[in-house]
Amino acid sequence: MNPKEWWKETVVYQIYPRSFKDSTGSGVGDLNGVTEKLDYLAELGAGVIWLSPVYESPNVDNGYDISDYLSIMKEFGTMADFDRLLSEAHRRNIKIVMDLVVNHTSDRHPWFIESRSSRDNPKRGWYIWRDGYKGPDGKTGVPNKLESVFSGPAWKYDEKTGQYYLHLFASAQPDLNWANLDVRNAVFDIMNWWLDKGIDGFRMDVIDAIHKPESAVAVSGKDAETCFGSPGVHGYLKEMRRKVLAGRDIMTVGECSSATVKTARLFAGSGGSELNMVFQFEHTWIDHDKQFGKWRPLPYKLSRLKEILSRWQTGLYKKGWNSLYWDNHDQPRAVSRFGDDSTEENRVRSAKMLAACLHMMQGTPYIYQGEELGMTNMPINSLDGLNDVEIFNAYRELVEEKKLLTRDEIMTGIKKLGRDNARTPMQWNTSANAGFTTGKPWMKVNPNYKTINAASQIHDPESVFSFYRRLIRLRREYPVIVYGDYKLLLPGDEKLFVYRRRHEGKTLFVLCNFSGEKAAAPAIPEFKKAEKSGKLLIANYNEDGPRGGIRPWETRVYLT
Ligand code: GLC
Repeated sequence: MNPKEWWKETVVYQIYPRSFKDSTGSGVGDLNGVTEKLDYLAELGAGVIWLSPVYESPNVDNGYDISDYLSIMKEFGTMADFDRLLSEAHRRNIKIVMDLVVNHTSDRHPWFIESRSSRDNPKRGWYIWRDGYKGPDGKTGVPNKLESVFSGPAWKYDEKTGQYYLHLFASAQPDLNWANLDVRNAVFDIMNWWLDKGIDGFRMDVIDAIHKPESAVAVSGKDAETCFGSPGVHGYLKEMRRKVLAGRDIMTVGECSSATVKTARLFAGSGGSELNMVFQFEHTWIDHDKQFGKWRPLPYKLSRLKEILSRWQTGLYKKGWNSLYWDNHDQPRAVSRFGDDSTEENRVRSAKMLAACLHMMQGTPYIYQGEELGMTNMPINSLDGLNDVEIFNAYRELVEEKKLLTRDEIMTGIKKLGRDNARTPMQWNTSANAGFTTGKPWMKVNPNYKTINAASQIHDPESVFSFYRRLIRLRREYPVIVYGDYKLLLPGDEKLFVYRRRHEGKTLFVLCNFSGEKAAAPAIPEFKKAEKSGKLLIANYNEDGPRGGIRPWETRVYLT
């Protein structure tokens, strides 16, 4: 693979269409809404849009349960609207990457409807059907103890044919059987169809789970091996490269929660035999509890966050390619999680600091809608007004059924780390519903939209938006940001995240204060030199700081 690639030099903007911009007053965002905002994205400098799923779907998991891969969800518009979006984006030099959700389909997909209709239907083998396990007590239950990511068993009994089907996510998301060649070819046909239309690539949903190891699907009554990261996945991806991706100038990114630096070199190695890059998850688990995950948030240590991100930086240098992200539709808002949204000053300051910390690293940065405004978590006090199937299932299992967490305990988790935090409507301006819709929004707008919105930021040189725009420009201007090597400085410091990048005689110093307190300036000679004679590329305090001290949430980037 050529070391220089357009997808290494660009910045991706993720759109969750349901919450981005409603052009009809239905209360739900749509494709024409996205087209309407292309100039905004061009102004920001985004080179690629990753569009969360826009296909026909019953929306049990907001489009991540697809019932027809070749048509557009009616609420979002028509295929003609999509074609117009694609050509209008291309006219502005913005590429479009589609979300490919092919680990599972919706249970309303015609494939599954056929598959469940009888044991000898030709599509029976397109999904994973098993008999129940008969225990020593003579009772029959789930085939094994595999658990769903969305709580409870990963197997659901289907009355009609008396067997269980596998669903790693919600029961309305049955897993496809990738071991079946017809399934693989059907998926590859769909991919080729979209690529032939002119889209620029795919973000592949839970792609590391498509291969099911034997023990995960065996009728054993026992614990089962995880499906995430089973080595067999690499064979499927190589086949996908041969049958679909090879010879096309596109971008691919796989969502791979199982990825380690080592396996990422296979998924997204510089040999280019599988994907261009993966989303790894290690840093997103930093504040999760071992037993209860996100439902019991824990404090995290900066030194640990630095260790994780730095290991990925150095581990993939010249061996693969990173994707860089804090936010997406599955994560809470970064400024509320790693920064401070309790005062306006700190919100703006820490949103910029987090942006600089990420965008100066090696990899392709992803911005999730609203992140460029410093949008925050939403106030959550009860389940009312929430929408996320993951939250509802966890509540049912952990609080109601197993009584492992109290209501208050899980509400703390939902508030801090629940996915709905990221799914509130985009805050465009100060008019009703933040300018997202003229109707009743499908999900409540965050009440802070009067302060935090795009209209007030676009023309303000001090805004979070302007800061993101500058970061994106810097990436285009300075190859050291894209191609430089990486070294973490002060690994043990619990306030400062400092690193150095080097490329062709240029050195970049990135300094970030991850705390609301002052910190001593790093006692590193190279840094002192940069401070004295380097060029300050970007910073989040205007006035020159007191020498020798780093201010709350401060960031500075020097070039020497
Ligand atoms: C991925 C998506 C998430 C979805 C899940 C099941 O993790 O990002 O939103 O719920 O897959 O498709």
